[in-house]
Amino acid sequence: MKKILVIGATSAIAEQCARIWAGRGDALYLVARNEERLKRIATDLNVRGAAQIESYCMDLNDMQGHAAMLDAAAGAMGGIDTVLIAHGTLSNQKSCEQNVNETLAEIKTNALSTISLLTYIANRFEAKRTGTIAVISSVAGDRGRASNYVYGSAKAMVTTFTSGLRQRLHKFNVTVVTIKPGFVDTPMTASFKKGLLWAKSDTTAAKIVQAIDMCKEEAYIPAFWWLILFLIKFMPNKLFKVMKF
Ligand SMILES: NC(=O)c1ccc[n+]([C@@H]2O[C@H](COP(=O)([O-])OP(=O)(O)OC[C@H]3O[C@@H](n4cnc5c(N)ncnc54)[C@H](OP(=O)(O)O)[C@@H]3O)[C@@H](O)[C@H]2O)c1
Repeated sequence: MKKILVIGATSAIAEQCARIWAGRGDALYLVARNEERLKRIATDLNVRGAAQIESYCMDLNDMQGHAAMLDAAAGAMGGIDTVLIAHGTLSNQKSCEQNVNETLAEIKTNALSTISLLTYIANRFEAKRTGTIAVISSVAGDRGRASNYVYGSAKAMVTTFTSGLRQRLHKFNVTVVTIKPGFVDTPMTASFKKGLLWAKSDTTAAKIVQAIDMCKEEAYIPAFWWLILFLIKFMPNKLFKVMKF
């Protein structure tokens, strides 16, 4: 039985990951800001077989509260083996372009709050010389595009931060998994027209859990996004800047 902390537990992707872990009989500590949805998800996971379910309601942008939340999670489960960080918002690029405060708020939610959590968790796991930290970044962080560079740059910060953290914590037996989904059909992308490249939240979650089990360093989900991003990342700027995607 693993003791798993799920941060951003009301995310559609995180909920599907938690269902898999509940089915395995793991202990789960759920953190999110919507108390009613947290309760509903906790009840469902209980029925699915979780060894223990606890929940904690907080706005993850309240970074002053991160240490207390982590203390509460470790106390309730008698330690933490694995953490999944899943919260995020899909920035409105056009409106961010006109409003610096909105841009900074998006960077706070999608990068700074995660970096605060990672710093606390890394130090705890380093001290006990074990643990797995998984963070949902995005393919959008691999190269800034005109259509979503506010969200993309926040995710780039998370990807780069976890890369450094992975190297730092390797000698302490701590695994850092950076998850890079492509397009996933969830409430975050409800308004988007879906097509061939789109994945479902349950299949995405199954691949995330598999990547965590396999202690993968970076996981493009589905894997074909690796090739797409390889082509995008290495496209010469002269060509990239006139592309419309
Ligand atoms: N869907 C995609 O295509 C896609 C692709 C790549 C990466 N991702 C990443 O995958 C992760 C999960 O997203 P999803 O697709 O599952 O979308 P989702 O269902 O909309 O989940 C996002 C979650 O983040 C929570 N959240 C946002 N700001 C928060 C805050 N300040 N405090 C606490 N919770 C907060 C939301 O809570 P509320 O509901 O209470 O607002 C919601 O539960 C995100 O990091 C996202 O960036 C998604």
